[in-house]
Amino acid sequence: MRSDPAQRNRSGSPIVPDHTAVIPRHVAIVMDGNGRWANKRFLPRAVGHEQGVEALVRTVRACVQRGIPYLTVFAFSSENWRRPEDEVSKLMGLVLVAVSRYVERLAQEGVRIRIVGDREAVSEKVRASWHKAETATQHNSRLTLSVAFNYGGRWDIVQACQRALADGVPPAELTEARLGSYLALSHAPDPDLFIRTGGELRISNFLLWQAAYSELYFTDCLWPDFGDAELDAAIADFARRERRFGGVEPAASSISQGT
Ligand code: IPE
Ligand code: IPE
Ligand code: MG
Repeated sequence: MRSDPAQRNRSGSPIVPDHTAVIPRHVAIVMDGNGRWANKRFLPRAVGHEQGVEALVRTVRACVQRGIPYLTVFAFSSENWRRPEDEVSKLMGLVLVAVSRYVERLAQEGVRIRIVGDREAVSEKVRASWHKAETATQHNSRLTLSVAFNYGGRWDIVQACQRALADGVPPAELTEARLGSYLALSHAPDPDLFIRTGGELRISNFLLWQAAYSELYFTDCLWPDFGDAELDAAIADFARRERRFGGVEPAASSISQGT
């Protein structure tokens, strides 16, 4: 994406690259830092999670405005069940509140919601809520918001293998593309930009397969503080990256196997 600094336009003036014009097609976010945001204010962690929902709605709108067609967010990991029961139950309750408060509005704004993750372990109420969010938005196409809930990258790869085996896919035909079609995020291209808020420099079992060639961006900003300016900073950083996908020249297109 880096442009040649010596490039000039017809009148001889240097062409100033507009990095903000390079918009990622798919942004994935590990929304981390809700607890610390609340701790800093001597508030219960649950308040941080509530503010996290506000940040999510803000970010979805910011992505719509910037013409980003895919946004995938990590809302609850396969490992988050290790948290105190009270926090887990507050997070489950927040799903119900968030769906009833925001889904209709997001539907009107052209957002399609998909839930990715293992639904077996969540309560009937949460499952029904997810079903409502998906069906109410299923005909939209402006932005696909995939919410990873009870999701883990390892779970995803294992469930994809299990389903392929159950379908009787012969080992020789289990190519990357074929396995990719069984993954939970098969409706989206691979993420171009992978953001983690909250300052930790790790992936925490998010999109292990799909992030193979994502550009990683880590920020100390705690998730409830995330908004338009932080998204623009991440996009501007992304626009300066030189993506090679294993080759030697900057690549014009990605190797993603999705749509
Ligand atoms: C992320 O924020 C939200 C979830 C994992 C559900 P955290 O709750 O992990 O916040 P910190 O990392 O403790 O600050
Ligand atoms: C990752 O954050 C999961 C989500 C944001 C949903 P965690 O807070 O669970 O990750 P670790 O424990 O710091 O690796
Ligand atoms: Mg955390």
